[in-house]
Order: sequence, then structure tokens, then C-alpha cells
Amino acid sequence: MAEPTNPGADSPAPQPDAAAAPETGFTAKPPSPSSTAVTATPPAPSAAPAATAPKPPPAPPKPPAKPAAGKAGPTRRIFIVSTLFGSWFATAWTTFTASMIAMTLGTVRFLFPNVLSEPPSVYKAGSVGDYEENKVDDKYKEFGFWVIRAKDDRNRDIIYALSTICTHLGCNPNWLEADKKFKCPCHGSGFRITGVNFEGPAPRPLERHVIRRTDDGQVIVDKSRKFQKEIGQWDDPESYILL
Ligand code: FES
Repeated sequence: MAEPTNPGADSPAPQPDAAAAPETGFTAKPPSPSSTAVTATPPAPSAAPAATAPKPPPAPPKPPAKPAAGKAGPTRRIFIVSTLFGSWFATAWTTFTASMIAMTLGTVRFLFPNVLSEPPSVYKAGSVGDYEENKVDDKYKEFGFWVIRAKDDRNRDIIYALSTICTHLGCNPNWLEADKKFKCPCHGSGFRITGVNFEGPAPRPLERHVIRRTDDGQVIVDKSRKFQKEIGQWDDPESYILL
């Protein structure tokens, strides 16, 4: 059994057709060329291509515009000012800090004075029995004295410590055993075994040092004091050991 169909649902709506239109006594005129020109105006060519053409790639971002040559921007100005003043302040503070450190170290340095390593002034020079009369030994010359046993101008048998410094200009004379005298190599001054000058430019005798004998017969020489003959100091008992 056939179902009724809806002619409007599945088939397009019937279009009016002039040829198929029933004759009503009215003849349709063909459109005039002037009206056709108005109605048949094609769409603008720009609309259709814009809708279908691919989009061009986005343009790269423009770099920021450079500031004018004569006009420094606030950032540049701040940079210059901070650089100049920052460096000045840094230099000033560095100099000040270095000065303070140097001054502090100098002050601390004064708390620890140099250690003076002076040679000793007191020497042990053997025993009294080690010395022969009129014999000169250079054993202690490097320490600045000779220990000699001889007769003095009063014909006393004594031991004394004679300085090795020439009284002219400070050279060190040598003992000449053959000549029995001290001879200075600098200007030729000569001294007898007692130390009395007798030739050359030396103006006065050699000097003596303090010498003493301990209870056990040891000889002690103390260079901290000197005795000069020309002013009578050789009479001082500390300037000789009487045998
Ligand atoms: S220093 Fe000894 S004679 Fe001049």
C-alpha cells in the first residue's frame, strides 16, 4: 500500500518558468539592456580574492627607534652618572680603606720592635795559666781583642786585654812576631806589645778592655768598658790581672 508523499519535503520548490507559465494574456518583456547592466553588476574583485587568498606572513617587529644623538635618554643619563660617581666613590673608599689598613699595621708594627742581635760583650778567655809571657795569640782577634801576658812600664807581670782597633782610623793591626810589634796595614802605625804607639800616624796607644780573674783561675774579658792610657786609665785594677 503506497504511503502519501509530501511533495514539498523531498523535491525542490517549483520555480516559475516563463516558458511553462500559462498564458494569461500578459507577455513578459525581455529585460532591457539598461536594466541588465544594472542588475548584472559583478561583485567587486577585491572581495572574493581576499576571502580565498593565503595570508601573508606577519611582518617582523620593528626595532625600537634610536634616540637622537644629542639627547641622552633618562636611562643613558643615569648610567653615565652612576658610572662616574660610582667609580669616584669606589676609588675614594678604596684609598681610604687602604690608608687605614696601612696606618693600623704601622701602629701594630711599633708594638713589636726589631730584635737587636748584638754580639755579647763578655767572653771567657781560658785560664790564667794558658798565657805565656810576650806571646800574642790571635785566638780572640775576631771578637775584637787580644789577651796578652807581658811586663808593664812598672815591670809588673800582668795579663791585659788589648783592643784590635787602631787609634788612627779604626783599622785592625796585625801582630808581627818577628818584629815583636803590632803593625797597622792601613797607614803603617806601629804599636809595641803593651799597645803603646811608637810609629806612624796613630795619635795614642791601643785601648784596653775590662779583664778579671775568677776564683777558679778563669779569665773573663768584658768589652763594655775601655781604658785609655793617655788619661791614666791603665792604672785601673780592672784593666789588668796582676800575676
Ligand atoms: S788606621 Fe791604622 S794607621 Fe791609619
